[in-house]
Amino acid sequence: MYPFIAPSLLAADFSNLARDIEMINQSEADWLHLDVMDGVFVPNISFGFPVLEHVARLCTKPLDVHLMIVNPEKFVREVKALGAMMMNVHYEACTHLNRVIYEIHEHGMKAGVTLNPSTPVGVLEDVIGDVDMVLLMTVNPGFGGQKFIEHSIEKVRKLRRLIEGTRSHALIQVDGGVNLETGKRLVEAGADVLVAGSTVFNASDPLGMIHALKEL
Ligand code: DX5
Ligand code: ZN
Repeated sequence: MYPFIAPSLLAADFSNLARDIEMINQSEADWLHLDVMDGVFVPNISFGFPVLEHVARLCTKPLDVHLMIVNPEKFVREVKALGAMMMNVHYEACTHLNRVIYEIHEHGMKAGVTLNPSTPVGVLEDVIGDVDMVLLMTVNPGFGGQKFIEHSIEKVRKLRRLIEGTRSHALIQVDGGVNLETGKRLVEAGADVLVAGSTVFNASDPLGMIHALKEL
């Protein structure tokens, strides 16, 4: 049932991760979105595989791993070992994107390609038939709680047109500044999957907020 909702663990209480993951398990969320940062590709560092192994053990939802790192192709095996459903790599971090997509599929995972706000959707023309999802960053990657970039709405429409013009089955995911207001407009523009960090975890009723996003 659309839209899919993927709460981002980046906004969870890291001193109560087990509690917050249990909340996600009990919720209507479809996936758990995990933001890995390296301090090189983005100006911040989040969490790495030793933490994610614990997260993966506790979480009953499919894992959607968003790698904001250089050379993400080095970690296909590690992401697979988590039992991840989806491995998302940035277009800007992959010189040989076609090969990376192939390797992700070889490891039995779905392949997502992420675009920064300044990267046009047209660069995906030659891979759109091979990817399972395109993640459009609707803020500059690296931090939660940032302001939604308005131009993203037009970008979602453009990507929808690109997908419809091909035999691609790619889902459109959006990430950054998603709340009930921006989420509604993104879904109207053609988004299939909403990532939401602070909107979910800072809500007084996170389960109710996930339900409300699911209703958009
Ligand atoms: C940012 C991350 C996002 C982040 C979104 O670089 O990719 O997933 O958690 O946070 P919010 O929803 O608070 O904008
Ligand atoms: Zn993310």
